[in-house]
Amino acid sequence: MSTTLDTTPSDDLGVPAARRRSAELERSIRERPGRFRALTGDRPTGRLHLGHYFGTLHNRVRLQNLGVDMMVLIADYQVLTDRDVADRLTDHVEDLVLDYLAAGIDPDRATIFTHSAIPALNQLLLPFLSLVSVAELGRNPTVKDEIAHSRQSAVSGLMFTYPVHQAADILFCKAGLVPVGQDQLPHLEVARIIARRFNNRYGGTSAPVFPEPEALLSAAPLLLGTDGAKMSKSRGNAVDLAATADETARLIRGAKTDADRHITYDPVARPEVSSLVLLAALCLDRDPHEVAGEIGGRGAAALKATVTEAVNERFAPIRARRAELAGDRAHVRRVLRDGNERATVIADATLGEVRAAMNSLY
Ligand code: TRP
Repeated sequence: MSTTLDTTPSDDLGVPAARRRSAELERSIRERPGRFRALTGDRPTGRLHLGHYFGTLHNRVRLQNLGVDMMVLIADYQVLTDRDVADRLTDHVEDLVLDYLAAGIDPDRATIFTHSAIPALNQLLLPFLSLVSVAELGRNPTVKDEIAHSRQSAVSGLMFTYPVHQAADILFCKAGLVPVGQDQLPHLEVARIIARRFNNRYGGTSAPVFPEPEALLSAAPLLLGTDGAKMSKSRGNAVDLAATADETARLIRGAKTDADRHITYDPVARPEVSSLVLLAALCLDRDPHEVAGEIGGRGAAALKATVTEAVNERFAPIRARRAELAGDRAHVRRVLRDGNERATVIADATLGEVRAAMNSLY
């Protein structure tokens, strides 16, 4: 949808180039989807919300259905960097699996795994750490940002090195594609640099061990939370994928709007109203200007009624599927076990190549 670009300014250096490259990649994917492996991941911090759904989940399912080999990572080590979730980690991990399955990730075609369960993936961290300097890690803008927003009193070594761990997440399976939002581009750059340096240092004359992964930027729409700020679980302003129809109605009813009764779609001047319009439009697969035009002078109450109905209709099947799956925890655990087994085979093979390239096969 071209309209979703309204809310994604790309004034950052490098972003326009990444966008052009992503458009090229999309064409190659459509021609030969089977050539591509993509890796995406989430930290297990709780249930996913509609921002996640329209921002990334939906795109993962699309790529999977096109025939791309999808690796879906649950970053259960990385999550230790940003908040204290250790005591509820199992619940969070299972919630993520349920959200994935309900949204349409198919465990027969995609590999859902937790990185803590893949020893060989984690072992890659050591040679990779030798390829980056402390100064480079300190300059990483996403790390700086995470540190600034972290609620922890001291920066842990894990926090400081997590882009390198993230490189291991991507490179262990030689993913060529990493569907990301703009904010993750610096991390991807770390993975690309590590791949290049590893190949240069240890490659000799043979074929490079690691392909350089590429970002697949999505034109992800920016959905705001019900208070007009970024949608996030910790702010309590998010509609969960798993919310009931009543919870959805209550959250939308309480959403912030503005004093202008006439509903329009103008993300810059009217962020709160426009985000509601966008949410309805995404659920209905329609143009937000049209949706706003139809509501027109009927005001915020009519807008909210439209949004609630659109969300509840669009997500009814997904929510029903999720509720059914939630009754079968054994299935959820089986999906993870199978995914972890598949990821382990891949990681072992890559680590074998890495050790051979480094002359450390004993
Ligand atoms: N950093 C990502 C997040 O904030 C999660 C993640 C971990 C990831 N490893 C990754 C994303 C590798 C892409 C590739 O949610």
